[in-house]
Amino acid sequence: MTAHSVIDALLSEIVRINPLQSNFLKSSLDDITPEELDDLGEYLQFCDRKSLDVAYLAECYDIIVRDTLREQMFFQRHKRYRYSTFAEVADAVYFDDAYMRKYMHGLAITAWLWPNHREMHRYFANSIPTDREGRYLEIGPGHGVYMSTAMNRSRYGFFEGVDLSPTSVEMTTALLQSRDVPDDVRYEIYCCDMLEGDLRHDRYDAIVMGEVLEHVEEPLLFLERIGRLAADDAFIFVTTPINAPAIDHIQLFRSPEVLENLVARAGLSVRESRLIPYPGQTTEESLEQRLPINVALVLGQ
Ligand SMILES: C[S@@+](CC[C@H](N)C(=O)[O-])C[C@H]1O[C@@H](n2cnc3c(N)ncnc32)[C@H](O)[C@@H]1O
Repeated sequence: MTAHSVIDALLSEIVRINPLQSNFLKSSLDDITPEELDDLGEYLQFCDRKSLDVAYLAECYDIIVRDTLREQMFFQRHKRYRYSTFAEVADAVYFDDAYMRKYMHGLAITAWLWPNHREMHRYFANSIPTDREGRYLEIGPGHGVYMSTAMNRSRYGFFEGVDLSPTSVEMTTALLQSRDVPDDVRYEIYCCDMLEGDLRHDRYDAIVMGEVLEHVEEPLLFLERIGRLAADDAFIFVTTPINAPAIDHIQLFRSPEVLENLVARAGLSVRESRLIPYPGQTTEESLEQRLPINVALVLGQ
């Protein structure tokens, strides 16, 4: 299947199983760039080579859509996330291979199909330094798409990924193995809880942590550890959402200020940030109506 035919097949299948996605996807895809379409096509072809057909991938995407909608209804009613501890969600998500695989493929696909996730991924692709060398650490790479983008765009020589889910470790490794990696670039992805395990090094020149803070009980400890691991002038990129319920989100950030305070308490500073409101709303409207806002932060020490 060509890249574009597999995209068309996926979109048709998504709309077939969930017709409500039709208008949303049409308007979202108005803004996708040709390069992003090519990247989506490449991801889908990678899945195809792994014998994951579009019916399965559409189901993965639909799981995210439906789970998110259910949690949004709970959140609007109760003004809190359903769960607040790691123990409540770990077995049903991170350690359930079949579910985690679907969740991660679905999430990967939203990096191209959802306007807010696409903008965050685009911001990352445009922010990662293209001329620096050294070690890149990613905490919670999940599906591996950000790490693959980092490999495409940057000149770091060693890429390390640490994730507590064995499924995420396998998926990220498989995605990286499917690429042409230059001979002088090495990578290692392994299973470990970021707060508990030993990492391979004690200093990194880039540290990326996408959509992890909302999954943890102690976000301050994560940011503090990042601060200790960052080399002078390291590139530090962190994303996390505000008021964004999901089945495994246990840490509710209610405003950008809460996040900024957390960053400051960890001894870090915000060098640049991007707030991405709920599609079709302004940031103020999203905050007022408690609708999800995606936040991407470039941090400094
Ligand atoms: C929602 S996914 C994010 C995937 C990707 N980074 C992104 O931005 O789309 C969160 C990932 O973080 C991992 N994770 C959660 N808590 C972690 C921890 N304490 N240490 C390492 N990884 C963790 C999960 O297993 C999962 O793979």
